[in-house]
Amino acid sequence: MKKNFFIAFEGIDGSGKSTQVKLLKGKLEAEGLKVYTTCEPTDSPMGKMIRDIFSGRAEGDHRTIAALFVADRLDHLLNKKNGILKMLEEGYTVITDRYYLSSYAYQSPYMDLDWVIKANSLSAGLLRPDLNIYIDITPEMSIERLNRGRTSIELYETLDNLTNVRTKYFEIMELLKDEEEVLVVDGDRTHEAISNEIWHAILHRFLQTPAM
Ligand code: ADP
Ligand code: TYD
Repeated sequence: MKKNFFIAFEGIDGSGKSTQVKLLKGKLEAEGLKVYTTCEPTDSPMGKMIRDIFSGRAEGDHRTIAALFVADRLDHLLNKKNGILKMLEEGYTVITDRYYLSSYAYQSPYMDLDWVIKANSLSAGLLRPDLNIYIDITPEMSIERLNRGRTSIELYETLDNLTNVRTKYFEIMELLKDEEEVLVVDGDRTHEAISNEIWHAILHRFLQTPAM
């Protein structure tokens, strides 16, 4: 049984990641685990640059964005104050809302996937998720949820782009099936139904003592 572990939530925009991160945190804490939740893009200076480009406050080429995500992710891991590696070392189970599979899926419609994977290899070499959880919704549902919850739409939040990104996610999961542990869950259900499915998978993989 693993003492603490690292989980990355993935999915297209509005798939319900942050909702499920909160629900999973609550369930793990109720089991007595220390849990640290985090997200990408982060609050680092690189993360702020990314958000400025996404919202249209600043300009940036897709290649620049890809490189900013690489740097933001390394800082996310290595930051001495609250980096993921430090939090794991302190015994926290860490849950992140997005990690490098997001870069593979979101940056590869614009540039070579091999480059994106290589550019993220330092992060992957430092830490692979014990489990990626991909919440699947259609691009149409994503746009509907985004329109409901927000007044402005960000750079990658168009139907065409999200359609490409979802296709990329599935291609990548197939391509990396020997390296990446991914649980795919259907996101077109109630919060509780999704959360319960995730919880069963977590219990089974990380929390139950194996039968003798
Ligand atoms: P993400 O972090 O993936 O962008 P959120 O958790 O912020 O997704 O959810 C996006 C929107 O969809 C929010 O308005 C949220 O309340 C809603 N939402 C999340 N999960 C569900 C669900 N299972 N069914 C319906 N709406 C949901
Ligand atoms: P996020 O704040 O998670 O958006 P949402 O909650 O709507 O899913 O992520 C912001 C945007 O950043 C989102 O459109 C996906 C994009 N993104 C990338 O393009 N590459 C990456 O590596 C990451 C982590 C995010």
